[in-house]
Amino acid sequence: MCGIVGYIGNKNACKILLEGLSRLEYRGYDSAGIALREKEKFNIIKAKGKLENLIKKIGNIDEIKSNCGIGHTRWATHGKPSENNAHPHNSQDGNIVVVHNGIIENYLEIKTNLIKKGYKFYSQTDTEVIAKLLDYYLKESNNDILEAINKFMLRVTGSYALAIMIKSRKSEIYVAKKDSPLIIGVNKDETFIASDVPAILKHTRNVYYLENNEMAKIIAGKVIFYNSYKTQIQKELCHISMSLSSAEKNGYEHFMLKEIHEQPLSVKSTINSYLKENKIQFACLNESKIKGYDNILILGCGSAYHVGVCLKYVFEKLCQIPVQVDYASEFRYRESILSKNTLVIVISQSGETADSLAGIKLAKLKNVDTLGIINVVGSSIAREVDYVLYTYAGPEISVATTKAYSAQLVLGYMLAIKFATVRKKINEEQYQTLIKQIKELPYQIEQILKDEKNIQHLSSQFINTKDIFLIGRNIDYAIVLEGSLKMKEVSYIHTEAYPAGELKHGTISLIEKDTLVIGSLTQENVIDKTFSNMLETKSRGAKLLAITSNEIDCNICDYTIKIPKTNDLFATSLAIIPLQIMSYYLSVLKGNDVDKPRNLAKSVTVE
Ligand code: AGP
Ligand code: GLU
Repeated sequence: MCGIVGYIGNKNACKILLEGLSRLEYRGYDSAGIALREKEKFNIIKAKGKLENLIKKIGNIDEIKSNCGIGHTRWATHGKPSENNAHPHNSQDGNIVVVHNGIIENYLEIKTNLIKKGYKFYSQTDTEVIAKLLDYYLKESNNDILEAINKFMLRVTGSYALAIMIKSRKSEIYVAKKDSPLIIGVNKDETFIASDVPAILKHTRNVYYLENNEMAKIIAGKVIFYNSYKTQIQKELCHISMSLSSAEKNGYEHFMLKEIHEQPLSVKSTINSYLKENKIQFACLNESKIKGYDNILILGCGSAYHVGVCLKYVFEKLCQIPVQVDYASEFRYRESILSKNTLVIVISQSGETADSLAGIKLAKLKNVDTLGIINVVGSSIAREVDYVLYTYAGPEISVATTKAYSAQLVLGYMLAIKFATVRKKINEEQYQTLIKQIKELPYQIEQILKDEKNIQHLSSQFINTKDIFLIGRNIDYAIVLEGSLKMKEVSYIHTEAYPAGELKHGTISLIEKDTLVIGSLTQENVIDKTFSNMLETKSRGAKLLAITSNEIDCNICDYTIKIPKTNDLFATSLAIIPLQIMSYYLSVLKGNDVDKPRNLAKSVTVE
């Protein structure tokens, strides 16, 4: 998500940390901070917003005499973006400072216990818990820092890359990692820490990759690694040969492709943030509220609206509650009638989309409850709604959404399951089955991503296609809506998504020889119907591509993409992946600006 840097050596640490952080800016952040060791004390400087704000606050960098420090750009997950919540965080006595990348999932429980032991907290972050817990364990283990970090690792769940400084350990920095990246670069008399290669590429190309559950003691020019049993281990030094710009994308050619590949993680992090001991927990929503709603209205724009279309089917099937979905831009200008027991859900990656913001403000005027499914913590919509549930996709750079969309879907499924449980529409056995299927999704997405090369090859055959029609029924319709938008956005090919049964009411007149028709065939109860509609187009000259997890007559279709089987309700999460990959490769093959398609902006803050 965000960026971590660290330095220990013989140069101006402040300068090196700031340069490193600026190299990580592409990862997205909302605040920044550094901690520098200056003789007997730590100098901690933090600022909200851009790195420039931090640089201004620091003043004359050349005057700062420090050659050891840690720095951070924060992408808020717990607590709004603010100077107070910015990292580094420290223990009460200032003995420990820490920067953290990731999410401590059980932070609330640990925080409550630490408060009982007398610890005081000044921020809303999960990270502050790390500083306080380390302090507790350090005291408990007679200042054995490795022991303290080890205990910490056994106690917390979630993801972390950590850089830690202890006052008494003047020439050392400690690091630990689980599920968030951390690398260590070395030169003769200096050592660098970073969450990604670009931050240190200017100084060294010799790096170690820290693996999960490993920790290390960093000293100038040297690193000592330990496994989770505190046993010293040897690690291989790697030489980085990639260019700076490809390093920013982790070796991927575009952010879109990188983000497509980050989907298993984005889905997993979102699931893990709300699933505690197999129970879905939304701290902000109490059960009597959930029981009280008699209908739901979902608002969103573009892909977020498409998530809404999918969730309408999921909520109606699982919870038997009426659901409407509307484009936020349409809702804001219609005379909608909302009963007082309506729950309005707004979905937005950026949390800044002007139409969605206006829609939710209008809903609030009608005195109904509002809930946001939002990726950017502290964004305008997150602040406007009564209840907010964050997706944990991390910053999304490519204009065309992929990993945030996937995180929104899975959070929506979990919300629907929660509603179904509280409203007694499913029994324990059904609940357990649904949870098991949700937990499988990240692995099933990974499985589809392994088929990338075949999908790339397939895409190359459609590069000169003028029109593509995508059809499906029910949830398959929601899938093709998003698939069609993805293709339009990045490949600039004209595509249309249609409810399969609607084609014959007019649009079928556009089908000519070799027009590509893509059918999404995941919904057991309507597969045959959609398949028949595909055949209707084939007899008018269309070429057929089927995306399915079911057994269909592959000889009839010209192309078939097989995806793993999940509950029909969750099929969107899988069927969308090949469509994203196709969109991406069509865009690349056409030489388009994949990450910044023409005429589009990542966050649409105008009407
Ligand atoms: C998705 O690829 C698009 N860039 C666009 O449709 C987007 O989903 C829409 O503008 C909504 O954005 P939001 O999620 O930030 O509100
Ligand atoms: N969860 C931490 C926070 O909200 C770290 C976020 C990050 O990775 O930047 O402060």
